[in-house]
Amino acid sequence: MAPIDPHSYTDSTHPKTTHISFTFYFDFPSSTILSSALISLSAPFSGDFILDSRSLSISAVLDPATLTPLPFALQPTPDAVLGQSVTITLSNHSQLLVIFKTSPSSSALQWLSPPQTFNKSFPYVYTQCQSIHARSIFPCQDTPAARIKYDAKLNIPRYLSAVMAGKHVNRRDPLFRESQGACDDLLWCGEGRVVEEFVMEQPVPPYLFAFAIGELGFREVGPRTKVYSEAIPDLLDVAAREFAGTEEMIKVGEGLFGPYEWERFDLLVLPPSFPYGGMENPRMVFLTPTVIRGDATGAQVVAHELAHSWTGNLITNKTNDHFWLNEGFTTYAERRIVEAVQGKERAILNCGIGWRGLVKEMERFKDNMEFTKLKTNQQGVDPDDVYSNVPYEKGFQFLWRIERQIGRPAFDEFLRKYIATFKFQSIDTDMFLDFLKANVPGIENHIDLKEWTEGVGIPPDAMEPASDIYSKIVSLANEFKLGRMPNEDEVANWRGQEWELYLENLPKSTEASQVTALDARYRLSESKDYDVKVTFLELAISARCSNYYNEVEKTLKEVGRMKYLRPLYRALVEGTGKDEEKIFAKRVFSEARACYHPIAQGVVEAILTKHV
Ligand code: BES
Ligand code: ZN
Repeated sequence: MAPIDPHSYTDSTHPKTTHISFTFYFDFPSSTILSSALISLSAPFSGDFILDSRSLSISAVLDPATLTPLPFALQPTPDAVLGQSVTITLSNHSQLLVIFKTSPSSSALQWLSPPQTFNKSFPYVYTQCQSIHARSIFPCQDTPAARIKYDAKLNIPRYLSAVMAGKHVNRRDPLFRESQGACDDLLWCGEGRVVEEFVMEQPVPPYLFAFAIGELGFREVGPRTKVYSEAIPDLLDVAAREFAGTEEMIKVGEGLFGPYEWERFDLLVLPPSFPYGGMENPRMVFLTPTVIRGDATGAQVVAHELAHSWTGNLITNKTNDHFWLNEGFTTYAERRIVEAVQGKERAILNCGIGWRGLVKEMERFKDNMEFTKLKTNQQGVDPDDVYSNVPYEKGFQFLWRIERQIGRPAFDEFLRKYIATFKFQSIDTDMFLDFLKANVPGIENHIDLKEWTEGVGIPPDAMEPASDIYSKIVSLANEFKLGRMPNEDEVANWRGQEWELYLENLPKSTEASQVTALDARYRLSESKDYDVKVTFLELAISARCSNYYNEVEKTLKEVGRMKYLRPLYRALVEGTGKDEEKIFAKRVFSEARACYHPIAQGVVEAILTKHV
């Protein structure tokens, strides 16, 4: 008896779940889902079988063959990070049927009332399961070490539609008479309802389980890509334009990493409260609307989520301690796709922004260097609390270092072999290192693999990227420190990323008068590009430019993407060392809270309580 993952109660001696058949009845008025899950195991099991759950009400566990109840017990006191274990007594069972209900506070689900959506007239609900929130939707072995296939029947109001990380097989009326057994009970209620059916035929880790329900529409943007959003023609049109280059990127990805294994690559643009830039849900990537700026910059986020189709979704980190295997590889792969479609300069700028982000994280974790390692120990730690650039950018740096050592052609061949060897498996850092050493003999004599994967900080052979544009931006930022602002000619070709990099390189100690002067000339506080706007506002907060606090408040109330919430709230509570800003942050949060996804609520609460 031993747990296999610090974030799950899953036991090493238990059979793994291979398949789950779901029925979900979505009750919008109560923000709950009435559910059943028919769980199939890889082998029959006798004894106490353990699943993860969080804030679920389980009404029964049944033997699906006889519908007789099986004894089960819920851990009496939930663990703050892991939630509640469910222990079910099995006797030679290889299947069990769980009847349960989600809670309105399910950490994976955001229920939006009509005013919180773009269309203002219909409710909306969507999931975000990574890293350990799937257990708040259904009881499961919520570890990426367990891969499951599933099918799902979603009973929803007829005026809405559903999308899922799965193949859509049917939209049909509820079948009153034909339903058989307890599994179908939830599909009986037919008045004004419709049933949408999906199937996921490839084994995926539970964190990739995903659906969204709302008044949705779509546009076709490529042979295997539709873009979905709320059914507002203007929104759909700009989204379709923004993501028009998707098929080209899929082809580039296939050329670099091998066949695209998921058949479809659809995109869903969520309401602004979506807490991430993007989430790589298989067959149906979720995206923040903040990437739609009408200038195809959304392509970078799409390149990233697309890259996960190989690194993350095909090869998955075994536990969150090896999260860099997902995000570091994906950041590397993303930049290779960007380089192929947008050119080397764009890719180098991305690396440069990444490098700045990595350097910044070293400061953030200076009292807790554990989280500057690639391979981490997250025992007792909530992954949402330690989410950072480190797995992305230090992971990228490690792979880039290997590329420099062996040359690009050899590294490309290595990557393709790595993906072909481990696809549909969940692996850890040592498995990667063993594979590396076996396929690149002698690599350990040139690169200190242990320092890279187990050491803290940035290794000496990491490299700040270099290009003419990158160096020019950094030197202009240095000149600003001496009082010279870039002139119009120098910034004429700058897009959002150039500005972001420039601002990132300005010192935190910039004077309020300089911040205001820069904005008077270049209107950065009004940028439609949130990456630019938020980086500027962070600087304005550090300089205590209170004339920008209205804009800060507005921003914190209109988007729920944590990439923007984190730095703004952090700048307010840590950046100035003054009570005024802390009180302001608390007030804004109390007013904005209800619009944030539960994960974002938790993250902001952690920032405020640590420091206020
Ligand atoms: N898988 C991540 C998002 C994530 C990570 C969700 C950890 C929950 C826990 C996704 O692929 C991602 O990295 N998104 C980035 C996109 C960016 C790097 C282009 C984001 O949201 O900012
Ligand atoms: Zn990612």
